[in-house]
Amino acid sequence: MSTRYQAELAQLRENELFRHTKTWRREGNLLYDVKGKRYHDFSSNDYLGLSQHPTLIAAAQEAMAQYGVGSAGSRLISGTTPAHEECEATIAQYKETESAVLFATGMMAAHGSIKALFGKGDTIILDKLSHACLIDAARECGARIRVFPHNDLNKLEALLRSESEKLSKAGQLLVVVESVYSMDGDLCPLAEIVALKEQYGAMLLLDEAHGLGVLGLKGMGLAEELGLQSEIDLQMGTLGKAAGGAGGYIACSSLLRDMIVNRGRSLIFTTAPPPCQAAVATRALHLIASQEGRELRDKLVSNRYLFGKLTKQEVPSAISPFIVGENARALETSFRLQEAGFYAPAVRYPTVAKGAARLRITLSAIQEEVVIQELCALLT
Ligand SMILES: Cc1ncc(COP(=O)(O)O)c(C=O)c1O
Repeated sequence: MSTRYQAELAQLRENELFRHTKTWRREGNLLYDVKGKRYHDFSSNDYLGLSQHPTLIAAAQEAMAQYGVGSAGSRLISGTTPAHEECEATIAQYKETESAVLFATGMMAAHGSIKALFGKGDTIILDKLSHACLIDAARECGARIRVFPHNDLNKLEALLRSESEKLSKAGQLLVVVESVYSMDGDLCPLAEIVALKEQYGAMLLLDEAHGLGVLGLKGMGLAEELGLQSEIDLQMGTLGKAAGGAGGYIACSSLLRDMIVNRGRSLIFTTAPPPCQAAVATRALHLIASQEGRELRDKLVSNRYLFGKLTKQEVPSAISPFIVGENARALETSFRLQEAGFYAPAVRYPTVAKGAARLRITLSAIQEEVVIQELCALLT
């Protein structure tokens, strides 16, 4: 057996695809490796710099003092505390839905919701660039799966038309898209997708993993920015990116929440997230929606604008891919930046398509302009 694994890993090394975990210490937007070398971070999803925000650290400490470090049970047994309830009510309040469900991670939110609500007899139509957790959940739920080319509305409509004709009376169509695509940083044409899903009687799951905190007046994402929150059946997101902590959520109707709570295996058969995790998420959402959150977003917009101007590309979100093509070239460019004290890792197949290896550069409100200018001078 071990020779099989050795052969597989050797193949990965040969194709420049071998991966390993790295250990970092973070201070604001600076990363320190195990040898103490310092890098400016252009890799994380901490778009507003909240992962080390004193208000959120205080929220964690207060909740730990009140509830201890763990939830000591699963959500349906004894692991749900007032901190979890308050977090779900806060998500529902900002997302303008009847209710919400909190999960330990965004990945678990995808699995817990899609597998609870859809199965054999249903059809799920996904954008080609959907995140792995959405694809896996759709595959595993037993529904028929169709994929449309990235952001291609004509193909989406063609699929909706043909699949709705094939569907039995009890079957349900689900469209799955992301507000901001995690490796390309571009947005989905949400208004048009909402119009199509309504025309064909489909449900819509919108993953706002990279929209929360970044888009919208209150920072609730693309659906808020476009005034479309009430049109979306399942508003999904993670609390582990701009919100600074960890967790995943689905904001939806009470009916869908009841189904997820009764059928969502990644909610039922796992220890509830620690109450302090929920308390941090609640405080983070209030912060994101506050004046301070708005100011952080303004700074992020100005950093996005600066990066876009210097690299001559559009930057519609906090993610800006710098596509270089071959795996080896991406690794070499990333290494060159590291030598100069900037961390922007290479993203390779299978995370992105073959031949589209890139640096996934992320912008944050806590990056200094001069540092962005230095990075751009190395890139261009
Ligand atoms: C688009 C998208 N959806 C879902 C997730 C999963 O979120 P989490 O990291 O909280 O599991 C991620 C991030 O990893 C993501 O980029």
